[in-house]
Amino acid sequence: MPNTITGDTQLYAIIGDPIFQVHTPEMMNRLFAREGLNAVMVAIHVAPQGFEAAVKAFRVMKNLRGFIATVPHKTAAAALCDELGETGCAIGAVNAVRREADGRLVGEMFDGTGFVAGLRAHGHDPAGLRVLLLGAGGAAAAMGFALAQAGVASLTIANRTRSKAENIQAVVRKSFPHPIVKVGEADPTGHDLIVNATSLGMKPEDPLPLDTALLTPDMKVAEAIAKPEFTPLLTTARAKGCIVHSGRHMLEIQASMWMDHWWPKESAKSKG
Ligand SMILES: NC(=O)c1ccc[n+]([C@@H]2O[C@H](COP(=O)([O-])OP(=O)(O)OC[C@H]3O[C@@H](n4cnc5c(N)ncnc54)[C@H](OP(=O)(O)O)[C@@H]3O)[C@@H](O)[C@H]2O)c1
Repeated sequence: MPNTITGDTQLYAIIGDPIFQVHTPEMMNRLFAREGLNAVMVAIHVAPQGFEAAVKAFRVMKNLRGFIATVPHKTAAAALCDELGETGCAIGAVNAVRREADGRLVGEMFDGTGFVAGLRAHGHDPAGLRVLLLGAGGAAAAMGFALAQAGVASLTIANRTRSKAENIQAVVRKSFPHPIVKVGEADPTGHDLIVNATSLGMKPEDPLPLDTALLTPDMKVAEAIAKPEFTPLLTTARAKGCIVHSGRHMLEIQASMWMDHWWPKESAKSKG
């Protein structure tokens, strides 16, 4: 159970549209309680047309310390911040925002660094691997950027809307001259790590994001999707002998990254 809410409880929000599906408040409130922090996170449902007004209100709420922006607000959140971290600046989207005491907003994107940290925590260092990235939405942009930063040998981006894959290619190339970054097809042949960053697999009726007949047991297959923990792609890949990696790890590891972003220099004791 989260802490009892008192007059000096620090507020955090996760803001999205829709919002009913998120599990971040449970995860963060458990973490706040475990850390002994007098803090609470609530989910706030705001449509795109109301997002700017909501952020303006956050600026004047003196006991609001930060928020998580989720679909579809990550790009709009970056545009409304006063300061951006390196990744947020490069890809133009953020998911964690800190409110400074004077109301200034500092944002950064942790989806990609969280994904790479989750891979490494489970013994799958992506450095030197040939990666196929499926999807070119907000999560894929952050994941592609972080994979290039982590030193992959090559990155092939495949997306239904090719122009969005080309945009990510341009952003990654600008920051990282080393990996070969190309736009290609959803064909895993010749790749070591296959990453699904499309939303295909969230709903039971979704088609698979690639032809799983082309998977071979030497390939690792990773997901952005955290729920279900094992998507049809991961279940099929595992049955074919591939090592699989759930999107749950990417989400869970971000909790401590967000905490560090919200309390950059303070001791754990003064967090709440
Ligand atoms: N585990 C975590 O911490 C975490 C964090 C962030 C996101 N995610 C997950 O990552 C996934 C993507 O999120 P996002 O924020 O990047 O969403 P997004 O910006 O809406 O992008 C969705 C992506 O899926 C593709 N797509 C959707 N429907 C498709 C279809 N029917 N056929 C082919 N491609 C399709 C889109 O292709 P087009 O560009 O052609 O539309 C796009 O590449 C979601 O499942 C989300 O839950 C997980």
